[in-house]
Amino acid sequence: MNKVLEVKNLNFTYDSQEGKQTIKNVSFSVNEGEYVTLIGHNGSGKSTLAKLLAYLLEPQSGEIYINGVLENEKNIRKIRQSIGVVFQNPDNQFIGSTVESDIAFGLENRAIPREKMIELVNKYANLVGMEKYLNKSPEELSGGQKQRVAIAGILALGLKVVIFDEATAMLDPEGVEDIKDLILEMRKENPELTFISITHDIEEAYLSDRVIILNDGEIFLEGKPEDVFEDEKKILSIGLDIPFVLKLKNKIALKGINVPKDVRTIDGLSEFLCGRLKQKI
Ligand SMILES: Nc1ncnc2c1ncn2[C@@H]1O[C@H](COP(=O)(O)OP(=O)(O)OP(=O)(O)O)[C@@H](O)[C@H]1O
Ligand SMILES: [Mg+2]
Repeated sequence: MNKVLEVKNLNFTYDSQEGKQTIKNVSFSVNEGEYVTLIGHNGSGKSTLAKLLAYLLEPQSGEIYINGVLENEKNIRKIRQSIGVVFQNPDNQFIGSTVESDIAFGLENRAIPREKMIELVNKYANLVGMEKYLNKSPEELSGGQKQRVAIAGILALGLKVVIFDEATAMLDPEGVEDIKDLILEMRKENPELTFISITHDIEEAYLSDRVIILNDGEIFLEGKPEDVFEDEKKILSIGLDIPFVLKLKNKIALKGINVPKDVRTIDGLSEFLCGRLKQKI
């Protein structure tokens, strides 16, 4: 497996925090094409870690390698061409004067021919449902619409690693589903695309390839979702909860029916239970 991201002994403290370390000796790696969810309580350091990964903050110590390249000032161009983040707050992310120029902004630094650029802007505006707003300015858009534009801008760049830091938290349920489908589609088209999702949605985490749990700036647990969420008490002890489907599975297990570990959806669960019922009838 090709490691697209490697984090070694990362430490970070904000100047204003007077010695309270925000990221504590964090090490992990992410494989190319993986879909990783990063979860943890408010203030556990997730957004700080996202900023460090994208080199928007500089680590005090430790190393981050993106696609084998050490993240430092000298390699900034390569870093910007490899990894990008969409944050939760759309107002701090809108740079262009119109939707069109905002989506185009990141592309302009990349010597992409004008025609190709227009094609990409149109394609991604369309994919996030903003094709009718290309000439609108940010003041004319809702928060969720601005967020769709930010998502289009990052996805259009064709990066190796895309981080969503609660990027869909502001979207309506339909919008969340649209973006989930879009990411799924993009990963199908390009299996090398690595996606890191920072989320409070444990149901999403349960369906990802791997979960990393951050607690007070440290990695608390890391692994496949079915393993990470196995110890309910441990998860509850750090203010998180376990996925709903897993709760159902645990209740069913108390009645003597063990549902296989890889059943992680309501559909999967009902299929399994129907299968069992049919055997009995
Ligand atoms: N710009 C900043 N300056 C000083 N301290 C900060 C700054 N940003 C975050 N912090 C502090 O760092 C810690 C981690 O914050 P961070 O935003 O990384 O957490 P988070 O896990 O993303 O939380 P949430 O789930 O609420 O988004 C918090 O204690 C926070 O107060
Ligand atoms: Mg955050």
